[in-house]
Amino acid sequence: MPTTYQSLRNKVAIVTGAASGIGLATAKLLAANGARLVLADYESGAAEEQSRQLVDRGSQSLAYGLDVSHAEEVASLFDFTREHFGPVQILVNSAGIAGPNMPAVKISYEEWQRTLDVNLTGTFLCSQAALQHMLEIQYGRIVNVASIAGKEGNPNLAAYSASKGAVIALTKALAKEVAQSGIYVNCIAPAVIDTPMNKKVTPQMLEYMVGRIPLGRVGQPEEVAELIAWISSDACSFTTGFCFDISGGRATYYH
Ligand SMILES: NC(=O)c1ccc[n+]([C@@H]2O[C@H](COP(=O)([O-])OP(=O)(O)OC[C@H]3O[C@@H](n4cnc5c(N)ncnc54)[C@H](O)[C@@H]3O)[C@@H](O)[C@H]2O)c1
Repeated sequence: MPTTYQSLRNKVAIVTGAASGIGLATAKLLAANGARLVLADYESGAAEEQSRQLVDRGSQSLAYGLDVSHAEEVASLFDFTREHFGPVQILVNSAGIAGPNMPAVKISYEEWQRTLDVNLTGTFLCSQAALQHMLEIQYGRIVNVASIAGKEGNPNLAAYSASKGAVIALTKALAKEVAQSGIYVNCIAPAVIDTPMNKKVTPQMLEYMVGRIPLGRVGQPEEVAELIAWISSDACSFTTGFCFDISGGRATYYH
């Protein structure tokens, strides 16, 4: 049974990467808790379809197609949301790509840059736009989806690992900046989660990653959505600038 959070009712929430995987599971759970949703994704058709299904179930939901690494498109997403629902109160940055899965010496500049553009710059641009809304209303919750790769580093995933490590640092910096403004900024570090993203890494890579999870299985997107919903709610009242692991016990680092 999914958890219920009264404080999510009527909250205006944008979830990026909401057409699939962790973003989709999160959008569904926030909607089930009464939040008003904008499902933002590069795959606009899939986002439309998912949004339609939420509306059919009685939720207030809209879809928006964009590339989170393009500043003008991000600005339009936030204008669109304000126009339809009002200032954004919750932002979940889940849009992301695995990037090149190969030895670092083989990664092209373009592949490296695209991974940082989507995972890091996209998270920054959306957070920056969200903070403009949140500072006005002196309330906000930002949840960034980082990765255990950003803490430990995965071999043959240098661009991804670097981008996610930077997302963790970005989270900590932003949280300290806005801590006195009613705005909480946290991130999560999942290990392997059962989503389409993992179809883009090699079977050997998947075996390496799952083999390091003490619980001995991959996580489900719905399990991650539970954590994100809690962090997005007022129940998370004394934690900001933190990185929550959701890794089946994988963590072996000390920071
Ligand atoms: N699945 C895992 O094992 C895992 C583990 C740790 C972290 N993560 C992170 O979780 C987040 C969600 O990934 P997922 O596993 O749900 O993958 P997914 O591929 O199922 O979903 C990612 C979504 O992001 C969208 N997207 C990609 N690039 C975009 C862009 N430039 N602009 C807008 N939307 C874009 C895709 O269209 C897709 O719908 C990612 O940030 C990923 O790095 C995933």
